[in-house]
Amino acid sequence: MAPKLTMDKFASLCKRRGFVFQGSEIYGGIGGFWDYGPLGVELKNNIKRAWWKAVVQERPDVVGLDAAIVMNPRVWVASGHVETFADPMVDCKSCKRRFRADELAREHPEPEAAHGHRPAAYPTRCPDCGGELTTPRMFNLMFRTYVGPIDVEAEFTRAIAELQGEDWERASARIRDLKDELDRATAYLRPETAQGIFVNFDNVLTTSRKKLPFGIAQIGKAFRNEVTPGNFIFRDREFEQMEIEFFCRPGTDEEWHRHWVEERYNWYRRYGIREENLRVRRLDPDELAHYAKDTYEIEYLFPMGWSELEGIANRTDFDLKRHSEFSGRQLTYFDDETGEHIVPYVIEPSAGVDRCLMAFMMDAYDEEEVRGETRAVLRLHPALAPIKVAVLPLSRHEDLVPVARRVWDLLRPHFMTQYDDAQSIGRRYRRQDEIGTPYCVTIDFDTLQDEAVTIRDRDSMAQVRVPIANLVDALKERLADCL
Ligand code: GAP
Repeated sequence: MAPKLTMDKFASLCKRRGFVFQGSEIYGGIGGFWDYGPLGVELKNNIKRAWWKAVVQERPDVVGLDAAIVMNPRVWVASGHVETFADPMVDCKSCKRRFRADELAREHPEPEAAHGHRPAAYPTRCPDCGGELTTPRMFNLMFRTYVGPIDVEAEFTRAIAELQGEDWERASARIRDLKDELDRATAYLRPETAQGIFVNFDNVLTTSRKKLPFGIAQIGKAFRNEVTPGNFIFRDREFEQMEIEFFCRPGTDEEWHRHWVEERYNWYRRYGIREENLRVRRLDPDELAHYAKDTYEIEYLFPMGWSELEGIANRTDFDLKRHSEFSGRQLTYFDDETGEHIVPYVIEPSAGVDRCLMAFMMDAYDEEEVRGETRAVLRLHPALAPIKVAVLPLSRHEDLVPVARRVWDLLRPHFMTQYDDAQSIGRRYRRQDEIGTPYCVTIDFDTLQDEAVTIRDRDSMAQVRVPIANLVDALKERLADCL
């Protein structure tokens, strides 16, 4: 069954309920940057925790890392990103719109290009106005920054002022010097977290004393100056990745590749994504990144069609060899069995947190008829749900409030909770259903007599009465999978 949410409806739910806001909204926003609200940050944290649990905590062979976002710029020369991390960009000469030529070719294939994933030719006409498109030029997606006290604009302004009246030769020499100075200060915001792992291979190997095969996992921000960010939070300029570099003996790489595709597919199923909305696709040879021997994508059926959630690549020994070559440091593993130094092969499962958030929410979204009304419910796995328990006094009656507050105080150390006393109890249940809260605890006038409350289940809407004294245990039992 396809998700019932359109992209617009999903974006509106995210904003209305405080999951995702447009970045810098009060200034008109900024393309490709998003802010996560009180519920969005909880959901994101829960997704990251569920990933870490599955790939680090529960496994004997993976350890974690948190590397810096800004790295020595030679890292990106060695990795190939300076040379090849670029998309073909075209502009319409009439309406001035800018496109990614490869996407345009896929979405609006011209007759001779209407086959395969990578078309043979890029379109020449604008899909919006029919105007002529420029020839494609490659645009590097890495964000540049300058490290140290250097103000590019001020430097150039001063240089231009000083050059007034200078002869051409002196002027161009001055500009060249300035360019060299800027090049020396140039750094990049990382476009993938992976490289932080490769450059720390030796540090982690010696301190963790792991034996092959073993992996290093990392979660963190990545930045890409995408030509066309879009589809809400699907393609952003700032996003978060969850990546593992799994090092293994050459020759065992294909087996480990199969292992990780299966593991990662099962992780999405474990946290509730429906089978019919999830698929694995092997990339065609002409779709592979410059470092990959083979790649599988785990794709989700988003409203715009099947699209990548996670890539699982066989990066071979490409990165370790390149970093050895460029840094002059040996990045090898001493194999006790053979007495040889070997360069391990790498399997890389790489997932996007923002895309996971979209997929988990979209897949969990459901609508059903309840007593003649439509109930919107987010059937999130309890481990992912931003709020685990809502505390709802039947009304704001002065006798109920102190008991409800006492119950809330009792629960807060154990669960992520929300207290809600605004509007009718029915509307408050609907609000909690729509944000995926698995349990609501209701305090009513009977509570004043029997010291018991009602636990209401999000999915079945069944209600049971539980003494306040047993409430924490009763909820812990129900939420066992989250703790
Ligand atoms: N280290 C390998 C790597 O970065 P990738 O396929 O470019 O591979 C991995 O990215 C994952 O990161 C993707 O599957 C996607 O979930 C996420 N991702 C990549 N670019 C993104 C973007 N612009 N916005 C949001 N998520 C993105």
